[in-house]
Amino acid sequence: MRPRPCDGGRSSATTFEKETTVEQNIDQLRASALQELETAATPEAVQEVNTKYLGRKGVMTQVLRAVSQLPADERPAAGRRANEIKQEIAAAVQAAAERLAAGAGPVEGIDVSLPGRKSAPGPLHPLTQITQRICDIFSRMGYEVVEGPEVESDYYNFEALNIPKDHPARDMQDTFYVSEDIVLRTHTSPTQPRVMEKRQPPVRIIAPGKVYRCDSDITHTPMFHQVEGLLVDEGVSFSHLKGTLTAFVHQMFDSETRVRFRPSFFPFTEPSAEVDILCVICRGQGCRVCKQTGWLEILGSGMVHPAVLENVGYDTSRYTGFAFGMGVERITMLKYGVDDIRKYFENDLRFLRQF
Ligand code: DAH
Repeated sequence: MRPRPCDGGRSSATTFEKETTVEQNIDQLRASALQELETAATPEAVQEVNTKYLGRKGVMTQVLRAVSQLPADERPAAGRRANEIKQEIAAAVQAAAERLAAGAGPVEGIDVSLPGRKSAPGPLHPLTQITQRICDIFSRMGYEVVEGPEVESDYYNFEALNIPKDHPARDMQDTFYVSEDIVLRTHTSPTQPRVMEKRQPPVRIIAPGKVYRCDSDITHTPMFHQVEGLLVDEGVSFSHLKGTLTAFVHQMFDSETRVRFRPSFFPFTEPSAEVDILCVICRGQGCRVCKQTGWLEILGSGMVHPAVLENVGYDTSRYTGFAFGMGVERITMLKYGVDDIRKYFENDLRFLRQF
């Protein structure tokens, strides 16, 4: 016996045709139900499709009735298929309702046989990579990584570091004042007194983070990154500072890179030294990047000033230490040949994907 025509569907796509087999008809119904759900643009439209196919008087009810009238040998397979499709349509109704509830529109023209779109994992920002590399190098030398606040008190940013209110060294830094006593930290050095106040020597820390100065041009951005280092213990001398920073440069750049310590001044260190490396571009011949000097400055350093140790209550007859601070943008620029600091912050993927 052939199935009876199904009069539940209105459109030709959902008409249960007489000439074809029951199973072929069921598959056709499935295709049109799924298609209608994909293009449904409102929750009401989804509900209509639901009623049309799965409602009490809907197409699938009639299909099952037709199946029950099939010859006994055809019935089990057709029944199973009809039930599978009923469930599939029910799941698609739910998915369509959820899709619309989540604010997405109709799905149109989807070719389900196409491979999915992969989301490529993004690499770390070059500054993050270099910060991590710096911290790794010092971690292996036994330094602990610590962090301090970016909104800092005037006391830790200046006073505790031997930079009193009227000290000319404050002019070296264009400070963003939040209030009279609160600043955006102009360097990572305030982590030095913050840590020392809480612990007794030996202290060996490295402190990465953002710092802020009111400055903006091809080599300055108002926010940039530094890494601070501090070591205090008994018997620490300038040769420890030289050995440590030379070892750092050799690991950061390469073991052939020449290092020079040049006398300098910082209120919180005495003596102070700036560390230069032989220009990575011209290898000392003199070029535009090293301003014809053959050397590139990479960090500031020095022996911790006794006044700084006294401010945190350390016994200066017993303890000495060295400190250093470096700009991450600068080191990254030298390592990768970046010529404009602003590129780090423009979020241009063509730039970022090179690292
Ligand atoms: N804080 C200094 C700056 O921002 C850098 C610096 C120099 C840090 C010497 C130090 C140091 O710890 O010893 O320019």
